[in-house]
Amino acid sequence: MDVLLVAGLPADEVHAWRRCLVAAAPEIRWFDADEGGFDPAAIEVAVVANPPPGRLSGLPRLRLIQSLWAGVDRLLADPTLPAVPLARMVDPAMSAAMAETALWATLALHRGFFVYARQQQSACWQPLPQRRADEANVLVLGQGEMGRAVATRLRAQGYRVHGWRRGEALAPLLVASEIVINLLPLTDATRGLIDAGFIAALPRGASIVNLARGAHVIDTDLLAALDRGQLAHVVLDVFGTEPLPPDHPYWRHPGVTVLPHVAALTDERSAARVVAANLRALRDGRPIAHLVERVKGY
Ligand code: GLV
Repeated sequence: MDVLLVAGLPADEVHAWRRCLVAAAPEIRWFDADEGGFDPAAIEVAVVANPPPGRLSGLPRLRLIQSLWAGVDRLLADPTLPAVPLARMVDPAMSAAMAETALWATLALHRGFFVYARQQQSACWQPLPQRRADEANVLVLGQGEMGRAVATRLRAQGYRVHGWRRGEALAPLLVASEIVINLLPLTDATRGLIDAGFIAALPRGASIVNLARGAHVIDTDLLAALDRGQLAHVVLDVFGTEPLPPDHPYWRHPGVTVLPHVAALTDERSAARVVAANLRALRDGRPIAHLVERVKGY
């Protein structure tokens, strides 16, 4: 089977992926879109990471697009994306990393560690009251692979966790949630969900952790709520424009912790094994795992 790797990534990252994919599925004939040397009419699968728009057209025998990223919003936004089955990346190593990041952010928010970091800047020695984990309500938006992994990890740590999925009433949950962690897929239904109305429904001094996509949040509403004290602190891993522009107010706002989209990096070794399993399923006529429902957008 001929498989094309189409990655809009730096060359060293593409090489690392190539090495891991070849190791996981040595029986496949792997080609790199940037190197050429392949017969477009022989390519059956495209394995993609940030493919430049239009790069997947002209492959008449294409049967599957396998994403190396968990989120497929960018792929689905490309009107030239061929209408073949599309699988997203579901990798246990990635879900575990996401759960670690969510746990760190929750502990730091609930125990005031971001406040202590700020206080240190002015040599301020000011202990805060200490609360138990089971006194803190955490709302996890999204109950897909990552949302469930995060909720399980936080519950194991003693937090009171509610996992919200779309369709369930949100307003009654917001009123009681002091920490909100976003792990929703980005779709037309979730874009801009975290806006002024959403934030106003939270208790005063709540915190938001966005580990999903920047476009879930209305940035001006978030900043205004931080300035008013409605939000105490936010942890942002994802942004409408990445890298976050150097003059963006998030960088210097004392109530914002910025991460450079690292909450859960795809682990090349384990993700390559996930890809290999799907390629073998396709070859053997077995069901493909983690197919995207295009109308739903994830
Ligand atoms: C990262 O954001 C991913 O979608 O894998």
